[in-house]
Amino acid sequence: MTTTSLARYATSHGYMSEKSQKDYIKSAIERGILPQNADSIAEVVSLTAPDDPDEPIQFWQLYSILGKRPIVRIVRDFYTRVYQDEAWFTSVFENVGPMYHHVNTQAAMWIDVMGGGPFYHGAEYRLSLHHTHNALQLMNDKGAQRWSELMRKTLDSPYDFMETDPRIRISINTFLAHFMVKYAREFDFENRSYFGNTNGPYVRG
Ligand code: HEM
Ligand code: HEM
Repeated sequence: MTTTSLARYATSHGYMSEKSQKDYIKSAIERGILPQNADSIAEVVSLTAPDDPDEPIQFWQLYSILGKRPIVRIVRDFYTRVYQDEAWFTSVFENVGPMYHHVNTQAAMWIDVMGGGPFYHGAEYRLSLHHTHNALQLMNDKGAQRWSELMRKTLDSPYDFMETDPRIRISINTFLAHFMVKYAREFDFENRSYFGNTNGPYVRG
């Protein structure tokens, strides 16, 4: 019998993936989502998504299933919505560059963090400076709410790659929630559960 593995794409760590993984594992242990020894569990730290449907997909394993194309598609669909939104929101992005600029930078960060290799040089330092200097007027409750609403609508689109496994959407939600919590703390706005279910407690099969 042949079994096909969910993971089809070659993975490697990037400029930002190891730190994101470490930060997430630490916070997930604190919240009881991952066990104390999570960073020594091979299936958790691996960049390859586990086939076992009872094991969650960690967000650094998403690239192994998705590859580049679906990631870029989500990001492009998101910015299409951003560029059709109200001026108070859209103009902040327009001031930085055209839509393709944002698609490139955002997709580079997702691919890097999701296990696709070194695509987002400058990593956390670059991300933080860009949000602080160029996005500041939206880094508040109102901006976060709109950003998240557009992202949630995007993710709710009928993507065929999302239907192959329900864990994929949950893992993307977990990725987004992880960064949103950081920004809510850093920029002092109220964090809400915007994207839907996130990874539940880890149970080893
Ligand atoms: C409209 C304004 C800006 C635009 C369009 C922009 C665009 C970019 C782009 C395209 C990159 C990647 C460059 C590459 O791939 O070679 C980058 C990197 C970076 N940007 Fe910006 N940026 C802007 C403003 C800022 C500001 C105000 C700061 C800090 C105060 C900043 C800090 C950085 C840092 C630290 C990097 C990473 C550098 C590296 O890794 O080599 N940027 N920016
Ligand atoms: C309050 C919610 C958020 C708002 C209002 C927001 C807004 C923005 C804006 C206006 C920019 C353009 C600034 C620039 O590129 O210089 C930007 C860039 C970016 N944002 Fe956000 N963002 C939010 C949350 C997030 C989250 C949760 C993530 C990660 C999953 C993220 C990842 C990025 C990335 C990767 C860039 C590109 C920066 C670069 O050019 O290197 N943002 N954001």
